[in-house]
Amino acid sequence: MSHTVNDVRSKFLSFMKGKGHAIIPSASLVPENDPTTLFTGSGMQPMVPYLLGQPHPEGKRIADSQKSFRSQDIEEVGDNRHTTFFEMLGNWSFGDYFKEDQINWMWEFLIDELKLDANNFYVTCFKGSIEAGVPKDEVSAKHWQELFGKAGIEARISDNPEDGIKEGERIFYYGEKKNWWSRAGIPSNMPEGEPGGPDSEMFYDFDPKNEKQLHKNSGIEGECHVNCDCGRFLEIGNNVFMQYKKVGEGFENLPQQNVDFGGGLERIVASLRNDADVFNVDVFEKAKEILESRGGKRYGSDNTTTYAMRVILDHIRAATFLISDDVLPGNKDQMYFVRRLIRRAVRFARNLGINDSFTREVAQTFIDTYKEEYKNLKNKKDIILNELEKEENKFIETLEKGIRQFEKFMLSGFEGEKLNKSFPSEYVFELVTSYGFPIELVLEIAKEKGMTVDILNFERKMNEHKELSRTAAQGKFKGGLGGDGEMEVKYHTATHLLNEALRQVLGEHVMQKGSNITPERLRFDFSHGEKMTEEQKKKVEDIVNDVIKKDLPVIREEVSYDEARARGAIGVFDAKYGDTVSIYHVGEGKNRGDSNMFSMEFCGGPHVEHTGVLGTFKIQKEEAVSAGVRRIKAVLS
Ligand code: ALA
Repeated sequence: MSHTVNDVRSKFLSFMKGKGHAIIPSASLVPENDPTTLFTGSGMQPMVPYLLGQPHPEGKRIADSQKSFRSQDIEEVGDNRHTTFFEMLGNWSFGDYFKEDQINWMWEFLIDELKLDANNFYVTCFKGSIEAGVPKDEVSAKHWQELFGKAGIEARISDNPEDGIKEGERIFYYGEKKNWWSRAGIPSNMPEGEPGGPDSEMFYDFDPKNEKQLHKNSGIEGECHVNCDCGRFLEIGNNVFMQYKKVGEGFENLPQQNVDFGGGLERIVASLRNDADVFNVDVFEKAKEILESRGGKRYGSDNTTTYAMRVILDHIRAATFLISDDVLPGNKDQMYFVRRLIRRAVRFARNLGINDSFTREVAQTFIDTYKEEYKNLKNKKDIILNELEKEENKFIETLEKGIRQFEKFMLSGFEGEKLNKSFPSEYVFELVTSYGFPIELVLEIAKEKGMTVDILNFERKMNEHKELSRTAAQGKFKGGLGGDGEMEVKYHTATHLLNEALRQVLGEHVMQKGSNITPERLRFDFSHGEKMTEEQKKKVEDIVNDVIKKDLPVIREEVSYDEARARGAIGVFDAKYGDTVSIYHVGEGKNRGDSNMFSMEFCGGPHVEHTGVLGTFKIQKEEAVSAGVRRIKAVLS
């Protein structure tokens, strides 16, 4: 039997209707009344008020298929399972049924109705947390065991899944990193009042006899287990038993016990097809054919082709759905993602040999496939197709002009540098600023031509350019008092001090995840799993203020990438950018960690010359941004 996305969606909804659920339409990809996030990224997001106790107008049992978009996954797309846009099947109990019913129904739906092979089915449960005061979820584990037993499948329960799957094991206890769900991730990351709870996840095994040796070939260390990334297992759904609310450092029971189920529609279809590639499900078929016939390359024939096609299929579908929810391509917020999706798709199409416009044709296949379920696609068809094509053509023009100019530069005399196989950074600068050519593309084309790019020089020029335009803008609006630019430079240096202080206080796992500076404050995102304590915050402030008091010099050096690494420079820097890099260190010395040197980072500047000018540093706020990522806002006064 062939399984389609539309078929499985409608089976799920009628199954849940049969269990007394009201079926509601998907909410928009742009959340209403939720300023904390740009996009709807899971089915529960629109349900938060009802999980917290507000009555839902449709009752205590709700089900839907929710359009979801995860912008943070844009660069993950290309493997067999990541997509930015996906549909999440969902059902909710708002203080009605709980664990046993939910688990029964999942078995009934997946195994009895869809005929998913139970021999390839695995589940996980929460092993409990002493700190959070939440017990081991033995109720769910025992219940799953009974259901496996009735189907004649031995199902032993394992407390140590990461030691590998032993004979007969089916049910695995994991801790809060895997089997606790809240919008903010693990318990310690949850803000006050946030709902969450233990969960039970369901997996499908795509290589039960281990014939493909996926784990061995992946190079992943340790034993394979259901949560391993080698590709053997795919998570197809998650049953969250949402019964807690974060209060202080611990939890309180919510006024009701809720169920929040989220199922990956495409992943379920992939499991039914016994093919782990979600891009092989029916909804992509027509679009794939178009790309194949336009470019003359077959999906699956080689890695570059497969990767490029996955990016295009995902991105054009996502852009189609986003435009149908009134997000047009542009430069701000949500709109920028639509622009980025389209531009990336156009770039990757060139890897398939497609240089002309193709998005209209590809988007049309998605509109045809999904239009009955998502009426906006039908109603806004012309807008969708026209917007896509307009953005695409603009970008193709940019690409072509840039490529022509690139060729011209190649023909022009830069003899000395040509001998060194180096493409002059003034040309790079001109391509980027005057032609709007993306820097990644300059690097790609230069590489194709066997040239390197002096990215360091380019970055310096860009920085000077930015400073100049900023000063010019200030001149215009503030009568030439260039105060803001100065403040931003100070905050930039303070960000380096903060980064190092965090590593000293919290540990070397702290990595910069994002940074944003305005004339009023700095904002710094970094990897760390827990809320910082008051003492930790105080310690970080003291360290930074101490370095300011010492009035250490801030020194820039240009060194080889290898030397920078060897000397301990930290930060995000891609080696492919070339050999020479710019580093900044605070304090004198050779290596990061030397007694007089406070910090050393890869950075293009600009910075203050001495830390003494920064004033007093104060943390205003420390909060979670997403699972494992914290954010600090801080000011100088
Ligand atoms: N809210 C849960 C998830 O997104 C079901 O995984």
